[in-house]
Amino acid sequence: MQNQIDAAVKQYRKLLNDQLDRVARMEKGEKAKDFTAMNKIVVGVCGGDGIGPIIVNEARRVLDMLLKDEISSGKVEIREIEGLTIENRLAQNVPVPVDTLEAIKGCDVLLKGPTTTPKGGTMESANVALRRELDLYANVRPVCVPEENIDWIFYRENTEGEYVLGSKGIEVDGKLAMDFKVTTDVGTRRIARAAFEYAKTNGKKNVAIVTKANIMKKTDGKFSLICHEVAKDYPDITADEWYIDIMTANLVNPEIRNKFEVFVLPNLYGDIITDEAAQIQGGVGTAGSANIGDKYAMFEAIHGSAPRMIEEGIGDYANPSSIFKAAEMMLRHIAMPDKAEKLSRALAICNEEEKAVVVTGNRDGATCKEFADYVIKTLETL
Ligand code: IPM
Ligand code: MG
Repeated sequence: MQNQIDAAVKQYRKLLNDQLDRVARMEKGEKAKDFTAMNKIVVGVCGGDGIGPIIVNEARRVLDMLLKDEISSGKVEIREIEGLTIENRLAQNVPVPVDTLEAIKGCDVLLKGPTTTPKGGTMESANVALRRELDLYANVRPVCVPEENIDWIFYRENTEGEYVLGSKGIEVDGKLAMDFKVTTDVGTRRIARAAFEYAKTNGKKNVAIVTKANIMKKTDGKFSLICHEVAKDYPDITADEWYIDIMTANLVNPEIRNKFEVFVLPNLYGDIITDEAAQIQGGVGTAGSANIGDKYAMFEAIHGSAPRMIEEGIGDYANPSSIFKAAEMMLRHIAMPDKAEKLSRALAICNEEEKAVVVTGNRDGATCKEFADYVIKTLETL
């Protein structure tokens, strides 16, 4: 056992140093890309696993239609990114193959289908690796329920917390296992800034800071403290302190839930609560997700690759709404708000108003392609 303890202590020293190196890199900072000043924007599209290629393929058709003029003038290039399949990742034993990562770095933004994450073992999730490699620190997830006046936006910290060392825990065989949670000053400050800036530029009056700082005293304690420090620069916005447990209860309390506007929270709580929020909106198949960094940005569905649907032979019935929402967020990010608005309007018509073609995720509903045709037809009328 002593050998294992010695190895663990050595590993711990390395982890600490690596994280301090990351802090130093973050402290240097990077200027955010200005899409309005770019002559050419490269949009990568990547299928992923399971239902991923099916829904991404339809999202691409929607983008091809919406960006027809920009593509033919050369202002936008849509580039297929290959190699992010579970088979390829397992064969190479890496979360993101080197050439795939290079290809992704050659794009300005990426629209990505879900990728399967193996449970257990040490294989890191492709998502987590991409968020880290591209330094996509803000995971932004909007959720709206118009009939209840719910208009939420979640700013989930996306590069630290339980995720950053999630595949690098320590184990003493047959005795114990330890994972680590990491919160840095600079990492917290930038997500807090992103959340408060969003609130300010969108006329929101309230930011909920959500942690479990009463228990995770060092990490969440720091997160809460720094968010409150940042809040001081935004005197017109109220910063409220909440614990994650009661906040999950608040979201299922119809009496108070529409009072919340912007949420800022550490990675794992953000992961969990955004699934809950998406379910309130109509299911995880309905919400889009943006992973934003200063240099790169990646847009995805918030659901997984649904291998069960593939096994049951019903992959073609997958709901592409979540990846379409992600495409809408991408268009807004690349400074094409009119196109984003158009897609948003078409999705509202197809999913909420007319509902002439309904995807149920099963054979009793429409296929992914039929729904995409409906969206494209609706877009033509706008
Ligand atoms: C999400 C997903 C990912 C996460 C998985 C696929 C790694 O659940 O984007 O919310 O845990 O962040
Ligand atoms: Mg999740």
